[in-house]
Amino acid sequence: MKLRAYPVGRLSGATTVPGDKSVSHRALMLAAMAVGESRIAGLLEGADVLSTAQALRHLGVAVERATDGLWQVQGVGVGGLREPDRPLDLGNSGTGARLLLGLLAGHPFTSFMTGDDSLRSRPMARVSEPLAQMGAAFVTRSGGRLPLAITGSNELMPVRYQQRVASAQVKSAILLAGLHAPGRTTVIEPQASRDHTERLLRHLGATVALEPLPDGGQAVSIVGQPELAAAALRVPGCASSAAFPLVAAALVEGSSLRLDGVGLNPLRTGLLQTLAEMGARLRQGEAEDVSGEPAGWLEVAAGPLEGVDVPAARAPSMIDEYPILAVAAACARGTTRLNGLAELRVKESDRLAAIADGLAACGVRVEVGEDSLTVHGCGGPPAGGASIDARHDHRIAMSFLVLGSAAQAPVTVAGAETIETSFPDFAGFMNRLGARIETVG
Ligand code: S3P
Repeated sequence: MKLRAYPVGRLSGATTVPGDKSVSHRALMLAAMAVGESRIAGLLEGADVLSTAQALRHLGVAVERATDGLWQVQGVGVGGLREPDRPLDLGNSGTGARLLLGLLAGHPFTSFMTGDDSLRSRPMARVSEPLAQMGAAFVTRSGGRLPLAITGSNELMPVRYQQRVASAQVKSAILLAGLHAPGRTTVIEPQASRDHTERLLRHLGATVALEPLPDGGQAVSIVGQPELAAAALRVPGCASSAAFPLVAAALVEGSSLRLDGVGLNPLRTGLLQTLAEMGARLRQGEAEDVSGEPAGWLEVAAGPLEGVDVPAARAPSMIDEYPILAVAAACARGTTRLNGLAELRVKESDRLAAIADGLAACGVRVEVGEDSLTVHGCGGPPAGGASIDARHDHRIAMSFLVLGSAAQAPVTVAGAETIETSFPDFAGFMNRLGARIETVG
């Protein structure tokens, strides 16, 4: 499917964005591990989360969407999943695959897991290695990739595991396995990554502790074998999805936009900090508590942006926002330097290459390093006029549709169906704000 974004004059409105993808996966999985029925409001109904729901069904969990839009999960308790009678297909979802491996590690049966072209190319050794240390067994394709088979154990050992990269997916997989092990399982992260798993585990009654370490890292631990209580849960709006309309409104002259109920977890707000440093006219409301997560409103109005240097230390708090930040940088005055981007090479696509190639095709001067990107801003609308391949990557697709909305000439994105993984009806959402994004033949 091809979408084309035409340059537009002004975006405006007050609305909400779909539920947070990270929180939605965790809400389904932890509700499955609780005892009793949980009801989840605001669940993201994107393809990634639906893959997780389907995998849980194949593992014996009743997961249904009720007519009122709430999702009902009949929890089976920690260790209560059943052997699936078919391969688990997690589609495009790295989070779904890696977190589910954490749960499967604690169950004494064999599961087969696969995914789409993108997911089958992504590294899984980063989770299979610690889970194997705890007692799970794996047979994987070369490089530890999917398809793979995992045989879990009901005698998992708690570990103290030092992560090489700050990855919330790896941390979460280990903590979810730790649910099944006796005693304390600890993950040491070099830098704090998003803590949705920890917050939700606590919210459902588990004991999770955090110890800051002198080198800037932290030790996160869970006490295993708790009884998790079923609950009424609400998923906040997705900060990573909000980033697309926010940047679009910051760039398209005359725009003003308000988004309500957006997740404002401080480990996800690096983009807001960066946009503020670039001079964006951005305001943020006071956060309320939504099932253990802070959420509130955001307002943005269009205005000129200046290039900035974004330090590597900020990467974990905006890891999914570099594609759209690069679009903002392309329209800014001056140079933006982005550092510490090695992890972007193993996302849904090699995002560093996809951003650099796409910007260059749109007439923006860029320099790409092993783990860095320099964007020479156009000081206004870039040329655009290019055709971009989404490379199975929803965030690449949405970023270049935003660029097209703020460019001199339309931008076409091929493979745009991938947007369904995280932001169903993105084009309709943007068009209601005044964008012109159309399907082309
Ligand atoms: C996610 C963690 C991040 C992020 C991904 C979602 C999560 O990945 O890029 O989109 O929900 O835990 P890493 O943990 O690999 O950095």
